[in-house]
Amino acid sequence: AVAGAVAAAMAMSVFVTRRIPAEGLRVLSQASGCRVQQWDSEEPVPRAELLAGVAGTRGLLCLLSDRIDREVLDAAGPGLKVISTMSVGFDHLALDEIKKRGIRVGYTPDVLTDATAELSVALLLSACRRLPEAAEQVRSGGWTTWKPLWMCGYGLSDSTVGIIGLGRIGQAVARRLKPFGVRKFLYTGSGPRPESAAEFGAEFVPLARLAEESDFVVVTCALTPATQGMCNKDFFGRMKKTSVFVNTSRGAVVNQEDLYEALAQGQIAAAGLDVTTPEPLPTDHPLLSLKNCVILPHIGSATYATRSTMAVLAARNLLAGLRGEPMPHELHL
Ligand code: NDP
Ligand code: DGY
Repeated sequence: AVAGAVAAAMAMSVFVTRRIPAEGLRVLSQASGCRVQQWDSEEPVPRAELLAGVAGTRGLLCLLSDRIDREVLDAAGPGLKVISTMSVGFDHLALDEIKKRGIRVGYTPDVLTDATAELSVALLLSACRRLPEAAEQVRSGGWTTWKPLWMCGYGLSDSTVGIIGLGRIGQAVARRLKPFGVRKFLYTGSGPRPESAAEFGAEFVPLARLAEESDFVVVTCALTPATQGMCNKDFFGRMKKTSVFVNTSRGAVVNQEDLYEALAQGQIAAAGLDVTTPEPLPTDHPLLSLKNCVILPHIGSATYATRSTMAVLAARNLLAGLRGEPMPHELHL
């Protein structure tokens, strides 16, 4: 009977790598037989604590800032059955290794699409209409009078917008930008997606043409070996001097040295980044010295409601996986 009880407790032992919204933790702590261990901090779990925390657990609820690689999987041991990430991005997970070990993976698509698209639009407008720079002028006394040639930027009316990755978030961005008077949408990806593109009359084009013709480039693709470093010197060199670049996907899609040069040399007009390499970006990073670069601390999904829903979904994915049931959102490997 004792052995049975120990086995039952093991079956639902989980490690949560951070303090998450209470609604998510509640789903786990109220689940019968679920034994929760948590790194209960706003700050990332130190690697040694992560390795110790996963040892012997069945389930891992992690964040995009936790690198889940072979070392973590070895530390967890063969009992680890489910990894649930509180993110839609999964580039922090060593999927080949995870698949080899028969571990199931849950993630959080859809529930953060609206919030991330909204932030992408906010960032685009901040960059093209120079909002942080203009607001700073008010504080610093730079605002002396209304000047016809002062603080001008670029608007969306009659523009061409290029979306790199017309997935869930890319489409939601296009849907929000269309009413601003965008004339033409272009997109690129691993292949044409006519059903997704129809709503916007978007044209599938090669990356180079998207760079050359877009007034606004919005990056909303996943980080993969194919997209890593995709926005590089050649890409920025093809963009117009009046164009604005926005990235809300992952920092590593962009070659930041090349982006810095393009912005500093006036090869492109402005950039808005919600994601960088590394995160956090060091406060002395050259990109932060540029007035035409707006940088946010990876807040695409940061509304209270969205983060709460993500936490609940991540918890439900984990429990379903542990119970051998279909997950609300499983990443099929
Ligand atoms: P989707 O899977 O719906 O979309 C990903 C898109 O990436 C697809 O349209 C895919 O297009 C595209 N893609 C894949 N390979 C390439 C390629 N070689 N070139 C161009 N595009 C490519 O994911 P979501 O829209 O839900 O999320 C997208 C990403 O956004 C996440 O992976 C995550 O990294 C990031 N994200 C960032 C947030 C933030 O806080 N800033 C919040 C949420 C997500 P195709 O299928 O045609 O290849
Ligand atoms: C994700 O989910 O991948 C985002 O980067 C954060 O919500």
